[in-house]
Amino acid sequence: MWGGRFAEGPAAVMREINASIPFDKRLWRQDIAGSKAHVAMLGARGIVSPADAETIAAGLDQVAGHYEANGVDEDMVLEDIHMQTEARLADAIGPVAGRLHTARSRNDQVATDFRLWVRDAIDETLATLRGFQSALLTRADEHAASVMPGFTHLQSAQPVTLGHHLMAYHAMIARDVGRFTDARARMNRSPLGSAALAGTGFPIDRDMTASALGFDGPMSNSLDGVSDRDFAIEFLTAATQTSLHLSRLAEEFVLWASQPFGFVALSDQWSTGSSIMPQKRNPDAAELVRGHSGRILGCMTALMVTMKGLPLAYSKDMQDDKPPVFEARDLLALSIAAMTGMVESATFKTERMRGVAEAGFATATDLADWLVREAGLPFREAHHVTGRAVKLAEERGIALDALPIADLKAIDARIDERVYDVLSVDASVASRTSFGGTAPDNVRAAVRAARGDET
Ligand code: ARG
Repeated sequence: MWGGRFAEGPAAVMREINASIPFDKRLWRQDIAGSKAHVAMLGARGIVSPADAETIAAGLDQVAGHYEANGVDEDMVLEDIHMQTEARLADAIGPVAGRLHTARSRNDQVATDFRLWVRDAIDETLATLRGFQSALLTRADEHAASVMPGFTHLQSAQPVTLGHHLMAYHAMIARDVGRFTDARARMNRSPLGSAALAGTGFPIDRDMTASALGFDGPMSNSLDGVSDRDFAIEFLTAATQTSLHLSRLAEEFVLWASQPFGFVALSDQWSTGSSIMPQKRNPDAAELVRGHSGRILGCMTALMVTMKGLPLAYSKDMQDDKPPVFEARDLLALSIAAMTGMVESATFKTERMRGVAEAGFATATDLADWLVREAGLPFREAHHVTGRAVKLAEERGIALDALPIADLKAIDARIDERVYDVLSVDASVASRTSFGGTAPDNVRAAVRAARGDET
C-alpha cells in the first residue's frame, strides 16, 4: 500500500545525504590541479599513453574554463566535485576521460584537494594578518606616548600607553602567524598516490606529483594519507586562537566606544545606527567579530568530534570535514578585515583616556614606590601612606598630583616636593623602562623592532 512511495523516497534522501557537491564545489581549482598533476605523471610513466595524457590535460583546462565562466553546477546525481569534473571531462573529450582515474581513488584525490585548499587558506590568512599587524604598528607608533588607564579586574590599575596596549595585540598576532606558519610546514606533504587506502600496483611516481603540486614530498603512509585530517584541525585551532585574540580586541572596542568609557569613536564606516534611537552609533562589526569567534570555535569542535572515533582508513563521515573549515575560513577572513579597518580608522580620544587615568589614581603605585626609594619606608607602610593620600584626593575630587604639598606632608612628614616628579601619569609611564614595559621609548623601540628597522 505504501511501497511505491517508499521505493522512491529513501533513494532521494540517500542521494541528498550523500551529496557533497553543494559545498565541495569550492574545491574545483584544487581538483583540477590535482588531476593535471596526476595525469601528467600517468603519461610520464607510460601508465596511459602520452597522447591520451595530453588530451586529458587539455580537457581539464576546458572544464576549468567552463567552471570559471559558469560556476559549478550542483548535480546531486554526480555527488561530488570529483565526479562532476570527470563527467564534464567526458562531455569534453569522450571516453578517454575514463583513463584519468587510473591508479587513484577519490580518497587520495579529496585528501589532496583539501590539503591544497587549506594551504591556500593559510597563505591568504597570513597575508591578511600581516596587514592587520601593520595597522596596529601604525597606530601604536602614533600613540606611543598617549596615556590611558591600564586595567586589572577592569579597575584602573596603572597608567599605560595606548601604543603599548596595541602592541600587546601585535605580539599576540605574531604568535598566531607562527602557528599558521608551523601548520603549513607540517601539512605540506602529498597524499596523492595513497590510492583508496593501500597504495597501488601501478608504477606511479609520487615524488613527481608531489612536486608538481608544490608539496615538499609524498606522505609516507597510504593509510595515514587518506584518513587523517589533522592538517585541517591545525588550521582550525590556529584560526580559533586568532579569533579569540581578535575577539578580545573587539570586546575592548565595544567597551571603549560606550559612553561611560568614551575612549574611542569608531568611524562612520565601522558603525551602524539604530532604527529607533537616533543618537546611537553601534559597534556592530566589533560585536560580530566577538560573536564569530564563538562560531569558529564551534567549527573546530565539530571537526575534532567528527574525527575522534573513526577507525582507519576513510569513512564517509570525513566528507563532513569541509563545511566547518570553509565556514571558519570565511568568518576569520571577515573578522581580520573588520578589525583591520576598525584599527585603521578609529579615533582614539586621548584626552578622555588621560583624564580617566588621572581620575583613577593610577599613579598610586608610583607614590608608594617613591616612598620606598626616596624616604626609605618598608613597602607595606608606603602602601598604607599612599592609601591615605588616595582617600584625601578622592574626597576632594582631584588627581593625586593636584594635592598640595602641605596636605601630603600632613599625611607623612617624609614626603617632599620631589614626589611630584612621579605623581603625573606621564612621569609614571616614562619610568616604566624595564624590558617589555610601557614607557613611550620602549613602545617606539618595539615598533621599530617589529618593522625590522632597528637602525
Ligand atoms: N566526496 C567525498 C568526500 O568528500 C569524496 C571521497 C569519497 N570516497 C568514497 N570512498 N566514497 O569525502
